Amino acid sequence: MRNLHNLIVIVIITIIPKSLTIKSEFPDGFLFGASTASYQIEGAWNEDGKGENIWDKMVHSRPELVKDSANGDVACDSYHKYKEDVALAKDLNLNFYRFSISWTRIAPTGEMHKLNPKGIDYYNRLIDELLANNIEPMVTMYHWDLPQYLQDLGGWVNPIMVDYFTEYAKVLFSNFGDKVKWWITLNEPKETCRAYSNHSYAPYLNLNNTGYYMAGHIQLLAHSKVYHLYNELFRDKQKGKISISISGAFYMPKNESSVDDMEIADRANNFEIGWFSHPIYKGDYSPIMRKFVDRKSKEEGRPWSTLPTFTDEEIKLLIGTADFYALNHYSSRLVTSGSELDPSFNSDAEYSTFVDESWPVSIAPWLIVVPEGLHKLLVWIKNQYNNPPVIITENGYADDGRINDLERIDYIKSYLNSTLKAIYQNKCNVIGYTCWSLIDNFEWMDGYRYHFGMVHVDFNDPLRQRVPKASYQFYKNVVTNGKLDVQY
Ligand code: NOJ
Repeated sequence: MRNLHNLIVIVIITIIPKSLTIKSEFPDGFLFGASTASYQIEGAWNEDGKGENIWDKMVHSRPELVKDSANGDVACDSYHKYKEDVALAKDLNLNFYRFSISWTRIAPTGEMHKLNPKGIDYYNRLIDELLANNIEPMVTMYHWDLPQYLQDLGGWVNPIMVDYFTEYAKVLFSNFGDKVKWWITLNEPKETCRAYSNHSYAPYLNLNNTGYYMAGHIQLLAHSKVYHLYNELFRDKQKGKISISISGAFYMPKNESSVDDMEIADRANNFEIGWFSHPIYKGDYSPIMRKFVDRKSKEEGRPWSTLPTFTDEEIKLLIGTADFYALNHYSSRLVTSGSELDPSFNSDAEYSTFVDESWPVSIAPWLIVVPEGLHKLLVWIKNQYNNPPVIITENGYADDGRINDLERIDYIKSYLNSTLKAIYQNKCNVIGYTCWSLIDNFEWMDGYRYHFGMVHVDFNDPLRQRVPKASYQFYKNVVTNGKLDVQY
C-alpha cells in the first residue's frame, strides 16, 4: 500500500510541469509594498515655501513637451490628501510604503543653509501617519525632481552635485532617520542620464554620450558619499539600510543557440543593469562596458573616453555601498548584433533590440509583458553579485485607467510568479516586492494618459477622489495571505 502511495506521488510529481510544482507561498518575512514619487503625486507645487524644481520649470515654460500639456501642479493632491493614501496602504496590509521626498520642499533652492520648516513638517507628518498604521516608510531621497537652482549650476553633470546631494542627505538623516529605516538614495540613475543626453525628461537636455555617462558617474559618486556619511554619522544609532534603485530591462539572446547572441545579451546586460551595479558590487564599471565605450570614443577621434574613470580611492569607496539590491523592472527585450541603420541600435554597446511578436504589449509601447525576463534577471543578479538580498522596488503595468483592470492583475500575478520561481528554483535571495503604483499619477512625459495605479484617481475631480480597482483587491489578497493563489 505504502509503495503504491509513493509511486502515485512520484508519478504526479513527474507529470506536473515544472512551473506548477513551485510553492505558492512567499518566504516568511517577505515584504510587500507599493511605491509613488513626490512630483508624480503631491501637487501643491508652490505651496508652503516649496521652491521650483526642474519639472515645475519644464512643464510651465515648455508645456507642449508633455502629452496634453499636462503637469504635476495638482497631480493626486497627496500633499493635502496623504492620510487617504496611507489609509489605502493600511487597508492593503502593506509592510512598507515607498515614497520620495521633494528636495525643494526641504530646501527651496537645494542649498542646505536655507531650510523650509513646513516642508520638513509635511514629511514628518507623513512618516508619523505611516508608523501609526504599522507601515514602514521606504524613502527615496531623489526621484528626478532636482531643484532648478542646482540645475542652473549644471545639475548632475557638475561634480559639485556630489557635495550638494550629501548635504541634502544629511538633513534627511538628521530629521527623519530616527523613524526611517529604509533609504533609497537615487531612483533609476540611468533614466536621469537619459534626461541629460537625449531630450527624454526634464531638464530636457541633449548632451549626447558625454552628458549621459558623466551624469551616471556623478550620481554614483554622490550615492557612495551618502552611504559613507550614513556609516560615519548615523548608522550606529539609526540602524537603517540604504540602497539605490537600479532600473533595467533584461536582455535575452534573439537566437538562444547562437554563441554570438548569448555574448551580445550579456554585453547588453552589462551596459544596462550592470552600469550602476558593477561599481557598487565590484568597485568599477564592468570591463565589457569599459572596453566598448573606450574603443568607440577612440574611433570617434576623441582625446578621452566618454565613460569617465574612477580613481583607486573612489573605487574603494564605491564597493559595497548597497545594503540590499533595489531593482526597478518592467520589461525585457531580445538582442542580436545590429546595423547602424536600425533605430534601436546601441552604437556604444553594438546591439539591436527586438521583441517577440507573441509578447503582450501594454498601453505604453515600451512596457511589453515578459515575466520570464524577471526570473532570468534575478538569476543574473544572483550570479553576478553573489546573491545579494533583493527588493524589487518597482514593478507594474500601464493601462487606460479602467477599474476592472484584469490585465494589471495578470501582469502582477505573472511577475510575482517569476519572483517565486527565482526564490524556489534558483535560491535567489529576493526579500521584497513593490508594486508601482499605489495610485494613478503623473506619468512624466506621458502626462495622465497611462495609468499605473491599483487605485483610480479622478484627475477631473477637484477632490481627486480615489477608487480602488480590481488589482487592488487582488494585491490585498496576495499581501494578506502571503501567497499567490493561482499558479501558471
Ligand atoms: C519608473 C519610475 O521610477 C517611475 O517614476 C515611473 O512612473 C515608472 N517607471 C513607470 O514608467
